[in-house]
Amino acid sequence: MNVLLIGSGGREHALAWKLAQSPRLGRLYCAPGNPGIEKHAFCIDLDVMNADSIIDFCRDRNVEFVVFGPEAPLVAGVGDRVRDAGLLVFGPSQAAARLEGSKGFTKDLCARYGIPTGAYRRFDNAVEAKAYVSAEGAPIVVKADGLAAGKGVTVAMTVAEAHAAIDDCFSGTFGAAGAEVVVEAYLDGEEASFFVLSDGTAALALTSAQDHKRVGDGDTGPNTGGMGAYSPAPVMTPDMVARTMSEIVEPTIRGMAEMGHPFSGVFFAGLMITARGPELIEYNVRFGDPECQVMMMRLKSDLLDLLLATARGELAGHVAEWTEAPALTVVMASKGYPGSYRRDTAIEALPEDGETLRIFHAGTAMKDDRLVATGGRVLNVTATGRTVSEARDRAYAAIGEVRWENGFFRSDIGWRAVSREQAD
Ligand code: AMP
Ligand code: GLY
Repeated sequence: MNVLLIGSGGREHALAWKLAQSPRLGRLYCAPGNPGIEKHAFCIDLDVMNADSIIDFCRDRNVEFVVFGPEAPLVAGVGDRVRDAGLLVFGPSQAAARLEGSKGFTKDLCARYGIPTGAYRRFDNAVEAKAYVSAEGAPIVVKADGLAAGKGVTVAMTVAEAHAAIDDCFSGTFGAAGAEVVVEAYLDGEEASFFVLSDGTAALALTSAQDHKRVGDGDTGPNTGGMGAYSPAPVMTPDMVARTMSEIVEPTIRGMAEMGHPFSGVFFAGLMITARGPELIEYNVRFGDPECQVMMMRLKSDLLDLLLATARGELAGHVAEWTEAPALTVVMASKGYPGSYRRDTAIEALPEDGETLRIFHAGTAMKDDRLVATGGRVLNVTATGRTVSEARDRAYAAIGEVRWENGFFRSDIGWRAVSREQAD
């Protein structure tokens, strides 16, 4: 079977690498792809926000199955149009993608189906939002309702900070995404991401991972798309996984189906593990990036089989198998990220991939036969080990072999798991 993978990040490099291992795969195409993905797929320059260009390409090249990596084309309805054209699609419908596209939608779903999450209110004007914050007090969380590239959330430690965040949203900083604001209770605990495949009715629990969202060591500085991750997240004990499935995931799948837009694809719950148990912070309707990179290092099952069963509504009875051994990835980003950064800086040397080490490319390109960094997040140096500490040591040793002057990285990825291991 010929497959088209949509996307160009480290997540898609990891998916391409894993899809390429399937004996059922014919040709793998990727749009637009990157130089790392090129080792496993034919990269093609398609406008992935244009359904017609995807449909025409698939007809021309006999592609039957389209796998969407990022959420933007799904939220915009491109996936629906490709599905309506008769192609098999991995990724939710536009209506179901609202689980990520609208925080207000997800909060209302939680309220309706009794899913544990922070208490919240939705506002369309600053005056009422500020009055609510003043009445509730700090700490409190202010969120732009729509997609704001992970930057629309302020965890405010003071009322003044929350008021400023509300002004920011309504002044248009996040465009249309900030036309509505969600104000939410602050949840205290340890975060984890939990991934699930669903075909609309059946749910298949995948595994857990922990991201590092802040740009700086010690979880300081502004939020980013993610500076590193490891899998599994030790805080997700078998009991926590069972509770997450029964209290959060299963009511979500049931609720989405009842509301007339069943969810088909992968989603992950951003969880806060509080003293009361797992509570939902947010949903994303795709694999996480860089969480996907560590998950693919651990996946023993055939990825193409799993994605196809999801898209065909035949997920019941499938299992996903994972290595016990953890994986950890460190993101190397362009200096200045998540603010502005220089483009086209030379990457002069990379270590070799091996059994326990892989470099997944994100914002890279070939220019005049040289590998250059074109994006904010550029490389994912990913390793496995018997412990998180061993995986971390391997990843950082490999970073020592990367020659890229304009790159930087966090030096403490995995710190929570490593301190747990040291305490054992
Ligand atoms: P989000 O974009 O919703 O994932 O939020 C970004 C980050 O803000 C999360 O990963 C959390 O670290 C933090 N956050 C969001 N909502 C809350 C909350 N209710 N309580 C505490 N922290 C939160
Ligand atoms: N790393 C977080 C995300 O993909 O949303």
